[in-house]
Amino acid sequence: MAYISNEIINEIRNRTDIVEVVSKYVNLTKKGKNYIGVCPFHDDHSPSMSVSPEKQIFTCFSCGATGNVFTFVADFEKISFIQAVQLLGEKAGINISNSDKLVDNKKDDYFEIYELANKFYQNSLFTSLGKNAVEYLENRKISKDTIKKFGIGLSIQKVSLTDYLVNKKYSIQKLNDIGLTNDNGKDVFINRIMFPIYDLSGNPVAFSGRIYNTKDTSKYVNTKETDKFKKGKILYNYHIAKEHLKKNDTVIIMEGQMDVIRASTVGINNCIATMGTALTRDHRNVLKNMADNIILCFDGDTAGEKATLSAIELLLDTGVNIRIVRLPDNMDPDEYILKEGKDAFLRQIDLAVSVIEYKMEILKKDKNLGDARDISNYINSAIKEIANEKDDIVVELNLKKIATNFNVEYETIRKKYDDFKTKNRVIKKEEIKVKKTYDRYRKAENNLIYYMLKSSTVLNMVEKRVGYFPTKNIRDLSNEIIYYFHKYGIINVADFISYISFSDELLGTLKDILAMNIKEDFQVEEIEDYIFVISEYYKKKKIDELTKMMKEEKDPLKQAKILGEIMEIRGVRKDDTRN
Ligand code: GTP
Ligand code: MN
Repeated sequence: MAYISNEIINEIRNRTDIVEVVSKYVNLTKKGKNYIGVCPFHDDHSPSMSVSPEKQIFTCFSCGATGNVFTFVADFEKISFIQAVQLLGEKAGINISNSDKLVDNKKDDYFEIYELANKFYQNSLFTSLGKNAVEYLENRKISKDTIKKFGIGLSIQKVSLTDYLVNKKYSIQKLNDIGLTNDNGKDVFINRIMFPIYDLSGNPVAFSGRIYNTKDTSKYVNTKETDKFKKGKILYNYHIAKEHLKKNDTVIIMEGQMDVIRASTVGINNCIATMGTALTRDHRNVLKNMADNIILCFDGDTAGEKATLSAIELLLDTGVNIRIVRLPDNMDPDEYILKEGKDAFLRQIDLAVSVIEYKMEILKKDKNLGDARDISNYINSAIKEIANEKDDIVVELNLKKIATNFNVEYETIRKKYDDFKTKNRVIKKEEIKVKKTYDRYRKAENNLIYYMLKSSTVLNMVEKRVGYFPTKNIRDLSNEIIYYFHKYGIINVADFISYISFSDELLGTLKDILAMNIKEDFQVEEIEDYIFVISEYYKKKKIDELTKMMKEEKDPLKQAKILGEIMEIRGVRKDDTRN
């Protein structure tokens, strides 16, 4: 994948009109300066998305979706930001991959080295020194075709990858940086079956190596984290699974690479693996754009159950439809498919249960469902789970199921459910209120960021007078805006969105601010006020700290001294304190 410079990205954006692009996906009507249409990013009925030809951004005032032409296409087509740039680049007559001039010249040889290492390990597997490893794979019913398909290879003690790559003129330092050579200048992987790991765009960036005829405390060793291999961001087999999604738009998540590989041997190719780590928020962002349906198919043991529950928590508010497979007898998908076969596994996938059903089963564990008190406890906790469901029919069916299963009148269960909902609604409303109303400091921060993007006067005022924003994301965002302004001499919101698209977090913060409906015009006095509010924040923080110190202080003289400091910060001179 080419690294595309900001200048190129901006050039493509300049040659592209957001109104024209968006109207290919959504019907737009002109209203004043802007165009409005039904927002494709939430269940919208009356048009709440506005597209500004002047600013070249879109904003939905209902769900808060906002961004430039690239993020619109990326989110709509469920592709990455860079892929959206390439797509629109082609339409604008800028072919990024074929034009040397347009590709940044600072080419990194990371992928190139990994390609070589990959071939090196693959070749080693079929030499005489690889006999045992091939036998191991045969015993695990991994065919030559599958070995090829997943690029499985072998690291051998006697055949040094490091030597091979050094001969190709790569430095030991570089090999160490990218995780192939250790600090002693020796290979990281020795006598392991090698599984190449690819990034989301399909570039090889790491390996996972499994022992096969030696004993070692670690069954698998993975490449250390590098600038291109972040465990929390990579999903094994993502680039292949994505190609197989069009048919059913469902992705199956498993724990291990062997599970994914096994599934492919029976023709199921839409699987990815977390490789033993817990799902992260970065994974979540990738997954929610990947497919509308997610099936969690972790190992059938307690660890798998824990991983399933935390994955559900993480994915629940993405809007994707989640279903869960529970494999019997502690088996993992690999073992299950080997033992029970393809059809049995496909049945498991078909029978995958909803989150409610899964949780209601899990809740039964450790309960004696012959005991009336235990049954009552169970029903109470089941009702709490059902209360999260939005679909009234699903709710009713599950309540009925409980009634039948435990031989309790449906009306009794329904009443309990309704009572719970009423009580909960009150709390929920309060929670939402707290969430939506930013405190005055945060509001000042948001407004300052908004106007920094509009006016270099504000930007200069902030740069000179606000040393430090209280909120980390705002602080980072402000630094990026200032950096961008000094680099390009001008701020263009649509281009700035491209510029920070490398960070989901900063982009998210910016999107929140853009969607806030902050008024366009401002007076310098208002900016002064916001800056004042931020400085008040630090004063208040300092005063709180000093007050705490004063309370803990036993010595009255020292106490008086701290009080003096507090007064000074408050702006009261010491000799005034008599009144
Ligand atoms: P097989 O034993 O080859 O069938 O692998 P598995 O997928 O059944 O392994 P397991 O369920 O124990 O672990 C799931 C995933 O976690 C593996 O596929 C690896 O990616 C990862 N993993 C397992 N063991 C280790 C380990 O010792 N170290 C590291 N770093 N990762 C591991
Ligand atoms: Mn296994």
